[in-house]
Amino acid sequence: MNISSLNVLIGPPGCGKSTFARRHFYSEDIVSLDIERERICGDPGNQRATEYAVSIMHPLLAGRCAFRRTTVLDNTSAKRVDRLSALAAAKQHPNPIPTVAIVFTTPLDVCVVRNAERPANRRVPREKIEEMRETIDRDLPPGVPADGFNFTCWVDVDGRVTVYDPIPEVFAGASWLRGARTEVRS
Ligand SMILES: Nc1ncnc2c1ncn2[C@@H]1O[C@H](COP(=O)(O)OP(=O)(O)OP(=O)(O)O)[C@@H](O)[C@H]1O
Ligand SMILES: [Mg+2]
Repeated sequence: MNISSLNVLIGPPGCGKSTFARRHFYSEDIVSLDIERERICGDPGNQRATEYAVSIMHPLLAGRCAFRRTTVLDNTSAKRVDRLSALAAAKQHPNPIPTVAIVFTTPLDVCVVRNAERPANRRVPREKIEEMRETIDRDLPPGVPADGFNFTCWVDVDGRVTVYDPIPEVFAGASWLRGARTEVRS
């Protein structure tokens, strides 16, 4: 049985998060700062709209978790504090919605090339990508589950999913876990 879940994508700009979200989830289930920035000012990359976007995103996430709507959070979520804030939205309810961390392992050079090919308003400075890649590699290397989540999986440059733990029953029907490779933790 596939039940509702909160899925938090974790990866630097250009790693393929939005592509993965579009492939595996309904568009109405995607929540992101990019979407809210675009709604606010017409430009998903305009950082001046971030404060407004954040102020919309939090209650939106909390409400969706309260109503147990499957949701995919499509931000970089490289900082632990951002992941904990998403988890808090899920956990403020009795019988919280199950949570999944989906960590992208796309190499830095691929993210940098993809970033350079994007329109100017979507380009991020290389240092930012580098910093996030390093932080995520340090905190969430393959096989090290993300703090507080019910389940963690890793997605490679081609969109292939790897898991290191048996997939919990509640996530067994999730489309993005179909065909996932199981590896033994080293
Ligand atoms: N599995 C893939 N194979 C080939 N190209 C891909 C793949 N995933 C994403 N891309 C390409 O890489 C580029 C960046 O992907 P995407 O927009 O999904 O990244 P992102 O992680 O959402 O970045 P951001 O954090 O800046 O929003 C896009 O041009 C996309 O077409
Ligand atoms: Mg994106």
